[in-house]
Amino acid sequence: MSSDTSLKDKILAQAGKGILGSSRLRMKEMEKDVVLEIVNLRKFFEIPIPFETTWFLIAFISSLVVFAFQTMVGLILMGAVILAYFGLPYIPPFNKRPKIAYLKAVDGIALKIKKGKIMGLVGESGCGKSTAAKTIIRLLEPTSGAVYFQGIDINRLTSEEMKEVRRHMQIVFQDPYASLNPRATAHDIIAEPFDIHGIASGDEASFRVLKLIKEVGLAPHHAYRYPHEFSGGQRQRLGIARALALEPDFIVMDEPVSNLDVSVRAAIIQLILDLQKKMGLTYLFIAHDLSLVKILCDEVYVMYLGKIMEAGTSDDVFEDMKHPYTKALISAVPVADPTKRSKKIFLQGEIPTPINPPPGCKFQTRCPLVSDICRVEDPPEKWYSKTHVCYCHNVEGGEDSSEAFY
Ligand SMILES: Nc1ncnc2c1ncn2[C@@H]1O[C@H](COP(=O)(O)OP(=O)(O)OP(=O)(O)O)[C@@H](O)[C@H]1O
Ligand code: SF4
Ligand SMILES: [Mg+2]
Repeated sequence: MSSDTSLKDKILAQAGKGILGSSRLRMKEMEKDVVLEIVNLRKFFEIPIPFETTWFLIAFISSLVVFAFQTMVGLILMGAVILAYFGLPYIPPFNKRPKIAYLKAVDGIALKIKKGKIMGLVGESGCGKSTAAKTIIRLLEPTSGAVYFQGIDINRLTSEEMKEVRRHMQIVFQDPYASLNPRATAHDIIAEPFDIHGIASGDEASFRVLKLIKEVGLAPHHAYRYPHEFSGGQRQRLGIARALALEPDFIVMDEPVSNLDVSVRAAIIQLILDLQKKMGLTYLFIAHDLSLVKILCDEVYVMYLGKIMEAGTSDDVFEDMKHPYTKALISAVPVADPTKRSKKIFLQGEIPTPINPPPGCKFQTRCPLVSDICRVEDPPEKWYSKTHVCYCHNVEGGEDSSEAFY
């Protein structure tokens, strides 16, 4: 596995600037144990706004009626309606409506992932976890913000430089079946990265593939099977083997066990943990299953509608949670011991659409503590220890900065 310095040197050498640095590359002096730092990352999707057919029909039929009685006026009205509908040319006030809206899937998140640790990212379906993960490893281009991997701002790299970084950051997808080429055998799927990066070919590639297949608990004869010939758990092992092929430092695990049944889940989780210990890997672990996150993760970030609501060590978030959303999420986790069960919190209200969400706190429509300020101002960052941060107007206590605890 390459060291931090060698990755930087390789990138800088590719940029033709040696270790003195390049104007295009941006480096960040990071704390020693931090592998990845994300600064104010945003990913907005452009959503075309469909024609409002009903309004168009009402306007069109009305102008037809006018046309029947007053030919000239009706003709002008019909022309205006058609122009407004198709938007050509621009004639205010008819077509002021934008043709594109922005879906704010990830809206200004900041986080740090420490070397050799497992960082959990949790939140309801559709809150932006997978989009955040894909933007972090640059499978999606961010709308704004920066991702520093081992000190390098990866969004400034050329595709050739990014190829070098990609060796060190991999992903295991939510749906292993959709992420594996159905026409390639397991052998070819795992060997593909060797070929792309010019690492090994022929017998050497096959030797490495068989080693990886064994590492993830598959048998050598599985190498020549196609993805549809595997069970769900075996397919996920195959996805993990592919992610490990280039000996990465950092892996995004996007709900790696959510499609598996309980008996297989335990085995895959054990494999993920064993590999992390053996190879010193760093994970971003995305999951819905909070009891699993509590056991596995060193740190946890709680996300809602594209924003981070609360973050801290697993103990901070699960034992001393501050945010009303975290409280509601955690209250839904089943607890085996009846003496430790807490009252379930059922959230009322609608989740606002991520397209043009309301100003202020994104949780305002469902929050039991909501007040006027929540509807106008973004919640402030408040620290409850040097590791525990929460974004809320109405949770008591807290300091403006983590510095207060040093
Ligand atoms: N390519 C895309 N184009 C437009 N919108 C998208 C795209 N990908 C995701 N979205 C939207 O972005 C939001 C976040 O999606 P994302 O897949 O990141 O959620 P998630 O938290 O991973 O959900 P789940 O837990 O169900 O996997 C959703 O509203 C989704 O519809
Ligand atoms: S800022 Fe207001 S709406 Fe948001 S979580 Fe806190 S109390 Fe609730
Ligand atoms: Mg997802």
